[in-house]
Amino acid sequence: MGNPFVFGSATSGEQFTDRVQDAERLLANFKHGVSVILISPRRWGKTSLVQKVSAMAQSKDIKVVNLDIFSCRNAEDFYQLFATEVIKQTANKWEEWAENAKKFLSALIPKISFGIDPNTDFSVSLDFSNTRLNDELLDLPQKIAKDKGFRIVVCIDEFQQIAEFLDHVHFQKKLRSVWQLQTEVSYCLYGSKKHVLSELFSNQSMPFYKFGDIFFLQKISTDDWITFICERFRSTGKSISAELARKICDTVENHSSYVQQLAWNVWIKTKTSATSTDVDAALIDLFNQNSMLYYRYIEGLSGFQINFLRAVADGKSNEFTRSETLQNYHLGTSANVKRLKDALEKKELIDITGRIVSFNDPVFKIWFQKNIRKL
Ligand SMILES: Nc1ncnc2c1ncn2[C@@H]1O[C@H](COP(=O)(O)OP(=O)(O)O)[C@@H](O)[C@H]1O
Ligand SMILES: [Mg+2]
Repeated sequence: MGNPFVFGSATSGEQFTDRVQDAERLLANFKHGVSVILISPRRWGKTSLVQKVSAMAQSKDIKVVNLDIFSCRNAEDFYQLFATEVIKQTANKWEEWAENAKKFLSALIPKISFGIDPNTDFSVSLDFSNTRLNDELLDLPQKIAKDKGFRIVVCIDEFQQIAEFLDHVHFQKKLRSVWQLQTEVSYCLYGSKKHVLSELFSNQSMPFYKFGDIFFLQKISTDDWITFICERFRSTGKSISAELARKICDTVENHSSYVQQLAWNVWIKTKTSATSTDVDAALIDLFNQNSMLYYRYIEGLSGFQINFLRAVADGKSNEFTRSETLQNYHLGTSANVKRLKDALEKKELIDITGRIVSFNDPVFKIWFQKNIRKL
């Protein structure tokens, strides 16, 4: 019997629910060569969705290349990963990588290394002083696509990372100038820091302005979650009522990863049929499993920032211009509130949509209300 619920890493197969319309929309983009920018807070399901759609789109006419640039610290890291993964993932077997690497890169790069284990060991070493070379590397998917007669979709996870690179606007200009001329290649650029990504893609003065279809991924609906949870219990010989499944969703505000984690905690406690007591106990487990993380969030905050979160937790989400809110929560001036919002958004603790401020992490919110407010 497999694990009925999965959290912490991207999910697929039986553990993947709903997202039918999201998958269709993304698949249409992939198939028609329309570039797309996908944005949502962490752990709502971007990576899972892109992986699912990548598998659906993969065919003899379309190759999908997936890379995650979270660990790239600069443009050099990026070029290296980009070139390596494009070569690897557009080939069927490792002999073909070698062939492609020689064919498309050897004129450009003197050193290509293959390790003993060809499945994991292939990398290109680049000479970054040559700027023409970098443009050529960015054009690699177009060259391969034309040569092989298929189209390519390059999906880049944690794309917000490029805003950390030195001189990143210049770097983005370069990417855009090469990528926008590619007729056989489209891109799916996705990540979590909404304020960073919105700036990259929606600000007229930025190179990636209007690069593609911007897609703000929403949460999975309660009805879909209920069906999913009940089904996963049933398929493992246990049961849960729709009402309790709903309670799981409500408690964690439909946050994908937490729904799965809380459902898993309930499932372990359940003998045959889940009870309300099981759900309450499972929530306490959820706090315990995550409290280290929450203490770490708190450790890095100033007194003002904690005061601000208190106000948000109390539902004062759009009342920060009121002087009584400023006074009651000791927030200082309204200019200070602006700084607090910016800082907490940067830390990914809050989301700001229009004038509404909310916690990004619904379980942290409950934990914060229980543990921090009373200090
Ligand atoms: N479509 C889905 N169906 C079921 N669970 C999901 C789905 N998408 C995400 N999850 C849950 O959320 C977790 C985080 O998903 P992930 O794709 O890594 O999110 P992101 O890339 O947005 O951070 C997964 O491990 C899984 O528990
Ligand atoms: Mg992800």
